[in-house]
Amino acid sequence: MRIGVLCSGGDSPGMNACLRAVVRSGILGGHEVIGIRRGYQGLLEADVYITPDGRREMTLGSVADIIQHGGTILRSSRSEEFKSAEGTRKAADNLQQLGIDALIPIGGDGTLCGAVHLLKHWDGQIVGCPGTIDNDLLGTDYTIGFHTAVATAVDAVDKLRDTAESHGRMFLVEVMGRHSGYIALYTALASGAAVVCIPETRTDLGDIAARLERMQRRGRSSIMVIVAEGDELGGVEPILEKLRACDCPFSMRTIQLGHIQRGGSPAPADRILGTRLGEFAVRSILAGATNVMAGQVQQEMVLTPLKETFAAHKPVPAALVELQEQLAG
Ligand code: F6P
Repeated sequence: MRIGVLCSGGDSPGMNACLRAVVRSGILGGHEVIGIRRGYQGLLEADVYITPDGRREMTLGSVADIIQHGGTILRSSRSEEFKSAEGTRKAADNLQQLGIDALIPIGGDGTLCGAVHLLKHWDGQIVGCPGTIDNDLLGTDYTIGFHTAVATAVDAVDKLRDTAESHGRMFLVEVMGRHSGYIALYTALASGAAVVCIPETRTDLGDIAARLERMQRRGRSSIMVIVAEGDELGGVEPILEKLRACDCPFSMRTIQLGHIQRGGSPAPADRILGTRLGEFAVRSILAGATNVMAGQVQQEMVLTPLKETFAAHKPVPAALVELQEQLAG
């Protein structure tokens, strides 16, 4: 069997671990693995990984020494062209011409949605792997890259605390999560933040300002507010303006952590998750699965129909929202 693999959408730390597991499990099982570069855009251009000796089939060595690196050796893209019916058809034709029997796309909701469209024009098998820092896909407890992104954000908040304490300031820290408060909630819990603003719960600034005032009266001088970029109030800048209008008692600064959350050496949890999911995706293809995503739920490897994984954004655990509220005082 000839298995294609690609990474698409926003890169996430641990994608290389997943890729390594796909390539090695495929080859060790006696199959060929073709790496498609630059996601669906690369597929449209039949841009495949070529080994140093000029072959299209990846080797065990092609994925040596990559498990510790962020990003993806296959590179990634967000392709507008692929989204058109004509683009999807062209991608399907290229898979046919490359002789690919099964495809493993590694990416987030856009990537998995693209896979569903691809299957309308191509009769190969597709088993996706969840690669996104957002952790917003159903069908898996965690997505590849989430743990690293949280670790990066927590490290940044710890550093900001030094200035917050020295100057008696409040920081509004914006973390990624286009439609999801997962990174914000985990970062807030792990960094002891006073407030978290996420799209899953209503952000009531009057209430927050009153809470901040109580904290100031109790002598608190260093305050961290973690804001998900997808919060309904629109991120740190509009929240800063509104808190000023509510007479927030603290001197405030904002920071958007941005793409540093997507980079860096993957945390061991992401390397292991990527490795397990990559191997399981190959095993599932060989067992005949298609139109599904490989996930890990309570340590068990599971398959979920692709369209169910992005039909809704995974809700954040209510118990963790309550715990954050309770401990932030
Ligand atoms: O989907 C992952 C993600 O990092 C989101 O959290 C963020 O909104 C988006 O990608 C940013 O995308 P880009 O790198 O294309 O600006």
